Amino acid sequence: MTRQVLLFIVLLFIRSVYGQISYSIPEEMSKGSLVGNIAHDLGLQPKRLSSGKARIYTRDSDEYIELNRERGVLLVKERIDREALCRRATPCALHFQIILENPMEFYSVAVQITDINDNAPTFEKSEMKFKISESATLGAIFVLKRAADLDVGTNDLQRYELKPTDNFVLKLQTKADGNKIVEMVLQKPLDREKDEQISLVLTAVDGGEPQMSGTMLIVITVLDANDNAPVFTQPTYKATVTENSPKGTFVAAVKASDADHGSNGKVTYSITNTLDNVLEVFDVNEENGEVTSIGNIDFEDSRNYEINLLASDEGGLTHSCKLIVDVTDINDNKPEINIMSKSNVISEDAKLNTVVTMINIEDKDSGENGDVKCYISENIPFTLKASTNDFYSLITDSDLDRERSSEYNITVSCSDEGVPSLSSSVTLTLQISDVNDNAPVFERSAYEAYIVENNTPGLSIFTVKAGDADWKQNARVSYILEDSSVNGVPVSSFVSVSADSGVIHAVRSFDYEQIKDFHFRVKAQDGGSPPLSSNVSVKILIQDQNDNPPQVLYPVQTGGSLVAEMVPRSADVGYLVSKVVAVDVDSGQNAWLSYKLQKATDRALFEVGLQNGEIRTIRQVSDKDAVKQRLAVIVEDNGQPSRSATVIVNVAVADSFPEVLSEFTDFPHDKEYNDNLTFYLVLALAVVSFLFITCLVVIISVKIYRWRQSRILYHSGLPVIPYYPPRYSDTLGTGTLPHVYNYEVCRTTDSRKSDCKFGTAGSQNVLIMDPSSTGTMQRIQSEKSILDEADSPLEVRLSVYNP
Ligand SMILES: *[C@@H]1O[C@H](CO)[C@@H](O)[C@H](O)[C@H]1NC(C)=O
Ligand SMILES: *[C@@H]1O[C@H](CO)[C@@H](O)[C@H](O)[C@H]1NC(C)=O
Repeated sequence: MTRQVLLFIVLLFIRSVYGQISYSIPEEMSKGSLVGNIAHDLGLQPKRLSSGKARIYTRDSDEYIELNRERGVLLVKERIDREALCRRATPCALHFQIILENPMEFYSVAVQITDINDNAPTFEKSEMKFKISESATLGAIFVLKRAADLDVGTNDLQRYELKPTDNFVLKLQTKADGNKIVEMVLQKPLDREKDEQISLVLTAVDGGEPQMSGTMLIVITVLDANDNAPVFTQPTYKATVTENSPKGTFVAAVKASDADHGSNGKVTYSITNTLDNVLEVFDVNEENGEVTSIGNIDFEDSRNYEINLLASDEGGLTHSCKLIVDVTDINDNKPEINIMSKSNVISEDAKLNTVVTMINIEDKDSGENGDVKCYISENIPFTLKASTNDFYSLITDSDLDRERSSEYNITVSCSDEGVPSLSSSVTLTLQISDVNDNAPVFERSAYEAYIVENNTPGLSIFTVKAGDADWKQNARVSYILEDSSVNGVPVSSFVSVSADSGVIHAVRSFDYEQIKDFHFRVKAQDGGSPPLSSNVSVKILIQDQNDNPPQVLYPVQTGGSLVAEMVPRSADVGYLVSKVVAVDVDSGQNAWLSYKLQKATDRALFEVGLQNGEIRTIRQVSDKDAVKQRLAVIVEDNGQPSRSATVIVNVAVADSFPEVLSEFTDFPHDKEYNDNLTFYLVLALAVVSFLFITCLVVIISVKIYRWRQSRILYHSGLPVIPYYPPRYSDTLGTGTLPHVYNYEVCRTTDSRKSDCKFGTAGSQNVLIMDPSSTGTMQRIQSEKSILDEADSPLEVRLSVYNP
């Protein structure tokens, strides 16, 4: 409607000013469409047109408009395409004249063709291709082909649209010459890896009603740039490998992928460890990422390896990952036994659970392969106690006895729990040190020995011996004579015992006739601290020696008086004249006496009974026989050698006493002898009394001195080595010994060697009876010693033994 109103106004304006009629019609009207009522508009009668033979005059060959004379209107004759008629020129009008005849007149008519939107914008090509690197920078500009629209005005191309707009935006630019340029600008980076090809649609839109559009496809091929690093499939890989695996063992395969294309996506693998020994142990295949061992894998060296792997593409982009290789242990290490501290010696009185040795066990393997158990042999008084992990102490678990076993070789064996198990062992040698726990023991429960009387003092009688199971000083036995007395006399005046050797010496000469046997005890004491001791009883049997000649009891031999046996002249053969009675204080054979006639005035008259000593006549006494007969009878004992005594027996062969007297009175009597005897007896009594008092004083003094001396030693606290000075004194009253011997006991600083000097008169044979060996006799030659002179004083040097 608005167009018709506008057309009307235009028509009026044209007619009035130019005398020219203008019409305006849109293009593309259908054939026969009314353009305008020309007759009316020219103010002509309809008949005038017919009569005037009105026709259209135009220079153009084409006739778009025809004149209908009957109706007086202009009609569209041909389809009018404004674009073909005027192209882009505006306004677009058809100019022609209507010519009339009769009268001839013409009118100019202009038919303006208005545009309708009958053309869509079009692109020259339906598709445009680009190849853009994905690394193209933002803001990169790509010029697009423009579209064209044949329509004009508002129907012309108005704008472009680009879809999608993910990566690009459209930019229109008008150049100075008025040309318009369509560009697309990269506003978001491309990613080949996401979209290798991007299709965009560029739409050109006009402003017509209805709107029309044309499109063009923009195909963008994104070119690869090395914008992607290789990427490992896992940040960390894990693998296990058994230790001692041979070289070339497959460990693991790593994989990295690279999203890029071609060489940008070609991945090579390498190991980048530098500071450790990984490169010596592992290698990675450059191409396929397989990790293999190339060196010795030792669990004990390294329980796991951290391999840093690098994947690189050829563009130099890299990615790294870790491969953690856990090494599986195999039992390839023996347990190691380390002795942390050790005693080589332990006392036999060590308490239970005394630690002897501390041991540390180490097995480099792990788990069961490193689980170590240790043990020692059984039946020894030790046990192995596990303290904390891997620490053991060897302790005593029963009493030790050096005397039973003085040394132990303790083998500690340790084995692990691996399969197969490995083991090692160490042998500890342990000495057991001695404690004085054994008293000396004598070889016999009692001793018995024989000594022949009249021995030389200092003679060794025999030896007692005690053994001590302990060791060294604890087994060093000293022999000590126990104090006792024999018949009231200290035994030390009979025997002495050598402290070191146990040799029993006779201190004095024994007289069988005085004492036949005696007992004493010898103590054996060891050198331990405190010392242990035991004692044994010793019996000494004195053997008789033929040391006493027979003693004639009858007839009594007096110096002065004369005794005679009377034999009557009438005596028969076999008359018992007298009997010689003799005794021998010796015993046995030594006391077995025999009697023989040694000399006689008349040998044919008397005989002496060999056994009984009876003197008998052996023939008839005759008158011719002398009154005074003198017989010498020898009494012999049966000893070896034998001893004898001779007795003179006076026999008077007479019938009466006066006869005898006359024969025997030639012996004078000494009257003075009896007078003097009384005087001498008184004098002797006085001397004896004086000597007795003197002795008493001396003995008391000595006793007091000794007592004080022993107190001093006792208080000094030093071990007292007892000594028993063999004493001999003639005042002891034995009285039978023919000689007095003094001797010296010496102790040197080395108490193991005592040198005692005994006076002996020469070599002496001593018989010793061994009580156990059924009476076997042993002959022992006593040593020759130096004889000390009788008056040399008793000297005792005392030394204190210092252990
Ligand atoms: C202990 O071993 C040593 C040396 O191997 C050997 O001399 C000694 O006799 C052994 N002792 C014991 C009690 O077996
Ligand atoms: C001697 O030993 C016995 C045990 O054998 C003991 O009873 C006695 O007291 C000891 N005598 C001395 C004097 O030591």
